[in-house]
Amino acid sequence: MERPNGNPLRSREWFDTPELYGWLREAAFMAQGHETESYRGKPIIGICNSWSELTHCNAHLRELAEAVKRGVWMSGGYPMEFPVMSLGEYNMRPTTMLYRNLMSMDVEESIKANPLDGVVLLGGCDKTTPALLMGAASADIPAILVTGGPQLKANWRGEELGSCTDCRRYEIELRAGRITEEDWSELQTCIVRSPGHCMVMGTASTMAAMAEAMGIALPGNATIPAVDSGRARLAEAAGRQIMRVVEQGLTPSKIMTRPAMENAIRTMHAIGGSTNAIVHLTAIAGRLGVDLPLSVFDDLSRTTPFILNLKPSGQYLMEDFQYAGGLAALLKEISPLLHADAMTVTGRSLGANIASAINYNPDVVKSLDAPLDPEGGLALLNGNLAPDGALIKPTAASPELLTHQGRAIVFEDHDDLAARIDDPNLDVHPDDVLVMRNSGPIGAPGMPEWGFLPLPKKILASGVRDMVRLSDARMSGTAFGTVVVHVTPESAKGGPLAAVQNGDTISLDVPNRRLELLVEDREIQRRLSESPPTKQPFERGYGWMFAQHILQADQGCDFDFLRKDFSAG
Ligand code: FES
Repeated sequence: MERPNGNPLRSREWFDTPELYGWLREAAFMAQGHETESYRGKPIIGICNSWSELTHCNAHLRELAEAVKRGVWMSGGYPMEFPVMSLGEYNMRPTTMLYRNLMSMDVEESIKANPLDGVVLLGGCDKTTPALLMGAASADIPAILVTGGPQLKANWRGEELGSCTDCRRYEIELRAGRITEEDWSELQTCIVRSPGHCMVMGTASTMAAMAEAMGIALPGNATIPAVDSGRARLAEAAGRQIMRVVEQGLTPSKIMTRPAMENAIRTMHAIGGSTNAIVHLTAIAGRLGVDLPLSVFDDLSRTTPFILNLKPSGQYLMEDFQYAGGLAALLKEISPLLHADAMTVTGRSLGANIASAINYNPDVVKSLDAPLDPEGGLALLNGNLAPDGALIKPTAASPELLTHQGRAIVFEDHDDLAARIDDPNLDVHPDDVLVMRNSGPIGAPGMPEWGFLPLPKKILASGVRDMVRLSDARMSGTAFGTVVVHVTPESAKGGPLAAVQNGDTISLDVPNRRLELLVEDREIQRRLSESPPTKQPFERGYGWMFAQHILQADQGCDFDFLRKDFSAG
């Protein structure tokens, strides 16, 4: 088979060679029952599967792979499923983010090293989707992403709940003494009802939505529930469609362009998406050599209304979003803001994909004329405390705290926080600012989702449920509150966060996008010159390599050598 551009199938290079290995590769296919005539001349489609029993969100991806295979078979291709590393958000310690880049390398090298003409990427849990897209971007052969879809809505004593926004909410109530240990145990049996990713607008939902808006996933992918039969039909359709994508030579670099990424960013703001998505999209852009500075995210935030009424910033859950018409309904609402001509894996433009979309529930998907907020769901902060930026999710914050000055209460690291936060003698008031450092890419290491600092028990007991908190960590997309994260550069790299002392005044001004430490610059420099050097947490192996090559949050926390502009020379 030849593609329209005249290029022969990539996979034939592995077989059409006089070397012994050409013969052996056919023998290896025969060993699995594949007759040479069955696949000769057909595109071989890899199904890159991050299924794992250690990743509960991706536990159903083997079944979805079978649906993809059906689609490939019926369209004249030859499917070959292969495993890649899987990153289970709950199980992996210290954090899946430590391994996102490793998984992306597995994806890239597995694709590049094998006789594949196209690939369908199967993921779902928070880091698996960006790792798949990063790896596929670097490999740059035709690809379609199929995510596992959101879990069914949770229900506890008649109340609809979302994982894990409501786990966090009820944990606060447990710490405040408003629910019992028995209640908490009962809730545990109800909160995750099915395979699939967290069903609030957390990182997994955000990345699935942005991927669909970017055109690298089929329409419908973002919202069809994991166990809905529509999910298998979508996977089958992806198996059929990847054949056309191969035929047309539509590689990820032709889909994930700057305009497509701007569509994804608009979408992220309109849905009140996760702060993590900024790190992931920045990393994907770096793999493709797309110039995407952090300022673009903030510029688009100011002109993109927040219109999706989903937890943690709103009321509903992903299943409701599906019934309201799915992402296409939302994209149609914000279509005046989008690059409608951006090409997608359907072979049509984004505008064509959403032309017939209908919004069936205006209480879930609002309109540009009557948004939940006139600006987007994320804001980029700058100032002497974050020279290279910091993030906050204003839609999930307390409006009265978005402009705030308070006294710093400093925790050296996560262990220090755990040891002292509930100390009855801790000198802390509701209008203080809780500060944690050594939680960034190098300091933690891996930049865990520790940014949702718990409130001291004595503050909770007084009825207060939010305070300003800031750190160089990340925050789960399912979390909420007035939480400033991704303070860059991180403290372990000599960022000004390392200079903050107990009692200093910190000023947060979200409307003006400022984050300031109200201390003389000379004094900040003096403190920094006296701060102790960072200890290297790993003496060998992957962790050691991670510490040598990890970039800061403003560059997507990718490894320097994986960016397209890297030069070994
Ligand atoms: Fe996998 Fe939330 S734990 S998406």
